[in-house]
Amino acid sequence: MEAAKATAAVRGWREAAQGSVLLDGFHALKHALRFGADVSAVLTTDRAAVAVLAADLAPDVAARIGESAVEIPATVLKELVPRLHPTGIAALAARPDRAADLAALTREPRRAPVVVLDNPRNLGNIGAVVRLAAGFAAAGVLTTGDADPWHPTAVRAGAGLHFATVVERVTVDQLPYGAPLYALDPEGDDIRDVPFPDDALLAFGSERHGLSEAVRSRATRLVAIPMRPQVSSFNLATSVGMGLFHWQTGRG
Ligand SMILES: C[S@@+](CC[C@H](N)C(=O)[O-])C[C@H]1O[C@@H](n2cnc3c(N)ncnc32)[C@H](O)[C@@H]1O
Repeated sequence: MEAAKATAAVRGWREAAQGSVLLDGFHALKHALRFGADVSAVLTTDRAAVAVLAADLAPDVAARIGESAVEIPATVLKELVPRLHPTGIAALAARPDRAADLAALTREPRRAPVVVLDNPRNLGNIGAVVRLAAGFAAAGVLTTGDADPWHPTAVRAGAGLHFATVVERVTVDQLPYGAPLYALDPEGDDIRDVPFPDDALLAFGSERHGLSEAVRSRATRLVAIPMRPQVSSFNLATSVGMGLFHWQTGRG
C-alpha cells in the first residue's frame, strides 16, 4: 500500500515537474503554504522528521504538510531533486498567474513600493531580494534581463517567499508607468534627504554594470546610500534592504 502510494507520487511528480515551481526544503514549503501557493506534490525522505520540524517551526501549516507528504527513498528523491535540501523535503507548486500579478501592481492607490532589479545576474541575490520584499511587505519585485526570478536557485534563496509578493520578469517598457522611479546609484543624491513615497518604483542596477541607460533615463531621481570613501558599492541585495528600510522608516 505504502509502496504503491510512493510509486504513484513519484509518477505524479515527474508529470508535473515541468512548468511547476520547485520548493526545495522545509522553509520554502512552509512559506509557500502560508502565502497561498497551490502545492501539488510533497515528497520527503523521512515523514517523522518532517512532522517534528513542522510541529516545532510551523504549527500553522503542520497538518497540511503531514497530510500531503509522501515518503520515498532518498536515492529516488535525489534523482528528482539533485541538490536536495538538508531538511529532506521538496514540493511542487503552480506558478502564479502573470497577468493578474502585473495588473495588481498597476492598481491604484498602491501602498508599497515595487523593487526593480535591472538585469540582475546572481540568482542568490534575486532570492535574497524577494525575501526582503516579502519581509517589508513591498508590492513586488520586477526584474529586467534574462535571469528567471523563479529559477529554483532563486526560489531556494528566497525561502519560498516568492508567494508572499509579486515576482515577475518584464521589459523596461513594461514597468508601471506613472509611478515615480527612484534609481539607487552611488553617484546620486543622499538618500537621507529623499523620502520614498509608497507608490515608488525603487530600481537597482546589476552586480556588474550598475543601472542601464534605459532605467536611468526614466528615473525621477538618482539616490545614493552613503558609503565610506574608497568603497565603490554595496552588494545588490544589501542595497535593496537599506532602500526598503529607508522607505519604511520614512512613513508617516
Ligand atoms: C554591486 S552594485 C553595482 C556596482 C557596479 N559596478 C556599478 O558600476 O554601479 C549593484 C547595485 O546596488 C546599488 N548600490 C550599491 N551601492 C550603492 C550605494 N552606495 N548607493 C546607492 N545604490 C547602491 C545600485 O543600484 C547598484 O547598481
